[in-house]
Amino acid sequence: MRNSTPAWVRVPVLFFTIFLLMEYFIDSGDQPAFIAYPMTVYFLILVLMLLIAIELILKSIENIMYQTLSEEAKARYRESKSQGWEWAWGKRVYQKLLGSRPIEEEGEIILDHNYDGIRELDNRLPPWWIYLFYITIVFGVVYLVRFHVFNDYDQDTEFEQEMAQARIAIEEYKKTAKDLVDVNTVELLTEASDLKAGEVIFQGNCAVCHMNDGGGGIGPNLTDEYWILGGGIRNVFNTVSEGGRSGKGMVAWKTSLKPSEMAQVSSYILSMQGTTPANPKDPEGEIWIDENAAAEEAEVQTDSTMADTPMETEALNPLEQEE
Ligand code: HEC
Repeated sequence: MRNSTPAWVRVPVLFFTIFLLMEYFIDSGDQPAFIAYPMTVYFLILVLMLLIAIELILKSIENIMYQTLSEEAKARYRESKSQGWEWAWGKRVYQKLLGSRPIEEEGEIILDHNYDGIRELDNRLPPWWIYLFYITIVFGVVYLVRFHVFNDYDQDTEFEQEMAQARIAIEEYKKTAKDLVDVNTVELLTEASDLKAGEVIFQGNCAVCHMNDGGGGIGPNLTDEYWILGGGIRNVFNTVSEGGRSGKGMVAWKTSLKPSEMAQVSSYILSMQGTTPANPKDPEGEIWIDENAAAEEAEVQTDSTMADTPMETEALNPLEQEE
C-alpha cells in the first residue's frame, strides 16, 4: 500500500477515464453520449459507486491488517505512510511557490521598527506571484506585437466572422427544421419531391372544393392569374394557413397541416399556374402581379401585412436589437 496514489486522486481519475472511454466508443452524433442516451448516466453512477465501494473495502482490509501488526511494526507503517510521495512532493512545491521563511527563521528578517508592539517582517515577494507577473509581461508583449504591430485582426473582423458562421449555422438549422417556415420566411419550393408531397396533400384535402386540377368548384379557380386574396407564395401560404374571408368556406389549415406541408401545398398550387383545367371556373378577384416585379401597377393587390424579407431580418445586428 505504500507509495500508491491516494484514493481522492485514484477514484476521480479512474472515473473520468471510464467516462471519456464511454464518450469515445458510443456513437451519439453531435451530442455527448450521456445526453443522447440517459441510460449511460445510470451506468456512470454505478461505476462511481463501484469505485467508492472498492476503495472502502481496500481501506477496511488495510485497517484489519494494521490491527494485527505488532506495536513496533505499526509505528514503522505509520511513518512510511506519512512519507508518501504525493505529500513530500506536494509540500516541497507548495513551500517553494510560497517562498515564506519558516517561523524559526523569522528573527532574521524582522525589521527594526516597532509600532506599539506591531512589528514587520521583510518577506520576499512570493514566487507564485512573481511568476504570474512575468507571465503577464510575456503575454502583454505578445499581445502588443500581434495586434498593434502586425494588426492580426480587430474586433470588427472577429465580429463579422462570427456573424458569418452564425448565418451558416442558421441556414443548416433551417434545412433540418423545415417546420420553421412561416408567412415571413416561406419561399416557393421547386424540388420535385416537395411538389409531389404538395400534390398528395392537395388531392387529399383541397380537391373537394378546388377540383383535382385546381379548376375550381366551391372554391375559386387556382390555375388562373386572378386571385381574391393575393397570389405569390406568401399570400397563398397566408390564405392556406389563416383561411379565406369568413363565411366563404375556406378554413384555416394551420391547425391540421404542418408549416412545411402548407409550404408544399402552396408551392404545388402555384405550379399549376397557367395550366388548363377540364372545367375552369370563371376568374374571381384581380390579376395579381408581384409587387417586386411591377411596382408601377398601383391598383393590383399587394399585401401590406408582410414583414421584412427573411434576408433583412437575418442581417440585423443583434447588438442593435438590444433595448
Ligand atoms: C370547403 C371547401 C374548401 C376546401 C376543402 C379548401 N378550400 Fe381553398 N377556398 C375555398 C373557398 C370558398 C375560397 C374562397 C375564399 C374567399 O373568397 O375568401 C378558397 C380560397 C382558396 C385560396 C385563395 C384563392 C384566391 O383566389 O385568392 C387558396 C390559395 C386556397 N383556397 C387553397 C386551398 C388549399 C391549399 C386547400 C387544401 C389544404 C383548400 N384551399 C381547401 C374553399 C375550400
